[in-house]
Amino acid sequence: MKSIFTRLLPLAALGLATLLAGCERPPIQSVQTGYRGTGMLQVYNPRILNDQIPNHQPPGTPPVPAAPDGPRAKDVLKNVQVLGDTGVAEFTALMTAITAWVAPKEGCAYCHNLQDMADDSKYAKVVARRMIQMTQHVNADWKPHVAGTGVTCYTCHRGQPVPAQAWVTAKAQDKRADFIGNLDGQNQPKMEVGLASLPYDPFTPYLLKGEKIAVQATSALPQGHVASIQATEGTYALMFHMSYALGVNCTYCHNSRSFNNWPESSPKRAIAWHGIRMVGDLNKAYVEPLTKTVPATRLGPEGDIPKVSCATCHQGAYKPVYGAQMAKDYPALLGAPTKGAATAALPPPVAEPTRSVLYFGVGSPVLDAAQAAGLGALIDMLKSSPKVVATISGYHSAAGTLAQNQDLAKQRAMNVRDALVAAGIQPTRVALAKPQQTEANVAGEDPTARRVEVTVR
Ligand code: HEC
Ligand code: HEC
Ligand code: HEC
Ligand code: HEC
Repeated sequence: MKSIFTRLLPLAALGLATLLAGCERPPIQSVQTGYRGTGMLQVYNPRILNDQIPNHQPPGTPPVPAAPDGPRAKDVLKNVQVLGDTGVAEFTALMTAITAWVAPKEGCAYCHNLQDMADDSKYAKVVARRMIQMTQHVNADWKPHVAGTGVTCYTCHRGQPVPAQAWVTAKAQDKRADFIGNLDGQNQPKMEVGLASLPYDPFTPYLLKGEKIAVQATSALPQGHVASIQATEGTYALMFHMSYALGVNCTYCHNSRSFNNWPESSPKRAIAWHGIRMVGDLNKAYVEPLTKTVPATRLGPEGDIPKVSCATCHQGAYKPVYGAQMAKDYPALLGAPTKGAATAALPPPVAEPTRSVLYFGVGSPVLDAAQAAGLGALIDMLKSSPKVVATISGYHSAAGTLAQNQDLAKQRAMNVRDALVAAGIQPTRVALAKPQQTEANVAGEDPTARRVEVTVR
């Protein structure tokens, strides 16, 4: 009897260990990130965090400072199309850094025909040239997301020619073989969506096609926008990806009392909002057009090229490489802002007795500090004349897709309304109105077009 018991004991212990393998050993730590009582906490397992620290250290490649004097690369070398204005010594040092970031094992030969460095016959060199432009574009034009920290090739590549966290469109379900019906990519645990039973390819719709993410109704009775259960599951799948990619909980960005409400969200959510637009821009403008350049073996089951997600840069950290400011050490990768992009100055806000105009940055529904001052003047005015009613209309520029822009214009108007209500103006005194006419703006990214107009009567 005793011997059976002793023999079963290890088996029972093994069973218990298997059962608990999915659990994390306490103690778990939590950090409060919002007001008391809102449940805005970050939950950390200090041991898992400790294990991850080595993955998020900068590589220690020597900085490559700009060389303002001396010959330029384009004067000495034969085929430099992007980095032509870089000093020759800086150019050579940058090639060494790029090799360490992208192809340390393969060396210069990964991109170059060593007999003739100017030769473009290797696809990797052609891709790398576009990647240099993409890196410059991120650093110069997406400051609302990457701030002064910026990115280098290392942010995504970490010593590998293809970043570990690139995604391809999931293989379409073969509906002939079974009678299961449309699974919508669900019930198949995938790390991309935190092992949840949610569609496991939230990337194609939201990080490539720019589909609408908001699902919550913004009026008591659903009018206009009604999101299906399917669309809602897609939104949650994307949110799981974002949380997982950053290693944070939902409450890093949201007050879970109301997921859609912007004034109650943390400022991180606005940064994430820009991040979603940035990723879509990189995939559409830079990565996807390289599909025919890379060998077919690189492509996914649906024939598409590996693309960027939040995890490509973040890789489980709230800031890539824990916010190490690498980019500033490689000035050739900083690039010059594209004309009219996010950094273009906005006109000052208009604050007249009957009319206010507030301007927004490219793709942004959030007011910057200077524009928020205009909002302050409007609030003061509404408070001093308690009978008047404000009517709010949102506008957008002509650049980009119409559906996304209309959504953006509406979000701008709603944010201004929410800010007025949050400041104590009665909701009955603030109305939203669709603009009577949207101007046929052919100027593309015109800063005066990205605005909210408030008429006061
Ligand atoms: C990840 C790809 C990649 C790696 C690895 C790489 N290079 Fe380059 N190299 C490029 C690209 C892209 C250009 C063209 C840049 C441009 O058009 O502005 C270039 C251009 C050059 C040129 C200019 C040739 C000419 O006359 O036009 C030289 C020289 C050069 N690289 C040297 C090196 C050396 C040395 C190494 C190894 C230490 C190296 N490269 C590693 C991508 C790479
Ligand atoms: C935002 C993330 C990101 C940054 C930053 C980035 N890359 Fe990439 N890179 C990717 C993705 C995603 C791919 C996968 C596409 C593919 O398979 O070609 C890729 C592919 C490549 C490839 C082709 C590899 C192969 O064999 O298919 C090269 C070469 C490359 N990158 C070089 C660079 C260089 C050089 C830089 C810095 C100047 C850089 N990348 C910066 C995301 C990035
Ligand atoms: C890194 C910041 C961030 C994290 C973490 C995050 N979200 Fe979001 N969430 C956003 C942003 C930004 C939007 C708005 C996206 C847009 O409209 O483009 C959003 C939108 C939503 C919406 C749609 C709201 C509406 O207007 O209808 C829901 C629901 C949502 N999130 C739920 C979640 C859940 C659940 C989690 C945790 C699993 C989560 N979010 C984690 C940033 C975040
Ligand atoms: C091209 C690389 C890159 C990609 C792709 C990227 N990010 Fe970031 N992100 C950064 C950098 C760099 C920072 C740090 C900026 C800083 O120091 O303020 C950052 C910061 C953030 C922050 C602020 C964190 C904090 O604590 O201040 C949030 C939130 C965030 N990213 C969310 C996202 C989401 C969500 C996605 C995907 C939709 C995404 N990011 C995709 C590079 C990237």
